[in-house]
Amino acid sequence: MTATQVPPTAQVTQPAAGQDRFHETLRTLSEASVDQHFDAFKDIAWDDPAYAVDPTDERWVLPAADPLGRHEWYRAQTREEQVRIGIYRQANVTKVGLQFEQVLVAGLMNFTFRLPNRSPEFRYATHEATEETHHTQMFQEFVNRSGQDVAGAPPLFRFMAPFLPLFALRVPVAFFIGVLAGEEPIDHTQKNILRAGDEMHPLLQRIMQIHVAEEARHIGFAHQYLEHKAPRLSGYQRFLLALIFPVIMRWLADAILKPSRRARRDMGMPRSVCRELYWRNAESRTVLRELFADVRMLAEKTGLMNRFSRVLWRLLKIDGRPSRFRSEPSSASH
Ligand SMILES: [Fe+2]
Ligand SMILES: [Fe+2]
Repeated sequence: MTATQVPPTAQVTQPAAGQDRFHETLRTLSEASVDQHFDAFKDIAWDDPAYAVDPTDERWVLPAADPLGRHEWYRAQTREEQVRIGIYRQANVTKVGLQFEQVLVAGLMNFTFRLPNRSPEFRYATHEATEETHHTQMFQEFVNRSGQDVAGAPPLFRFMAPFLPLFALRVPVAFFIGVLAGEEPIDHTQKNILRAGDEMHPLLQRIMQIHVAEEARHIGFAHQYLEHKAPRLSGYQRFLLALIFPVIMRWLADAILKPSRRARRDMGMPRSVCRELYWRNAESRTVLRELFADVRMLAEKTGLMNRFSRVLWRLLKIDGRPSRFRSEPSSASH
């Protein structure tokens, strides 16, 4: 039968076919969660002497893959200072990641609370919540062992943390946009560091490897969820979400990547260096844009990009060419 001969009934069942495909993807992702998952206290040999955290270990010096690590202000510090700043920075970024994931777990509980019986989304979302709970344990354990008393995210994010999961109840599409806003920059940064292959502390390397392995699934789900749900929203809802989309992306990217005032003070980092790195200099602007190439592709694909929102993406300095496919290497994206 050719496309022109499709009977009207088959055309009516098209949305259901999309639903089936979505549910099939959820089942595949859920099975992948059963086949490959990590336990924070089983899969990391915390007490292995090779993983011992010595705050004077030179392997805490930030790698060149970290924009702060290659900045001239950092490179001009004494070796001792580079180590001190390095371990603080790693601990603080880890703390931000865990706070973000706490919000995510709380949101996933709200999201699943109202799902009907037999929903494949329930099973996948609770697998993800289980994995994220392990991530929060592994991140907190690292922070504890680092000996750094870090606060993590800036005060506004910490203040908002109990309220953000409410979006998962009322506007799950906006919530999963927020999930991507957090997961994409963390994942992108960790993958860059691992790919660069610089010498780093083996404990942190193990944590990042576990995290990257599981995040691939989480990011995959958020993309699939938005691809499936966004086209089913009303035009008005899509218009509003398209405007909110870049704002959430930029706010969370800043909360995660940019050191808070307290972190800056503790590291002894001048304000001018912080401003330049986040995001005044040309190189850092490119980094910021590249973080969201996959997300721009998603916004285009799901109808969450319109001519007004395009202006916002540009004003927020996160515009640029969308990826052609997910995880397209950034050198090819511009
Ligand atoms: Fe995670
Ligand atoms: Fe995740």
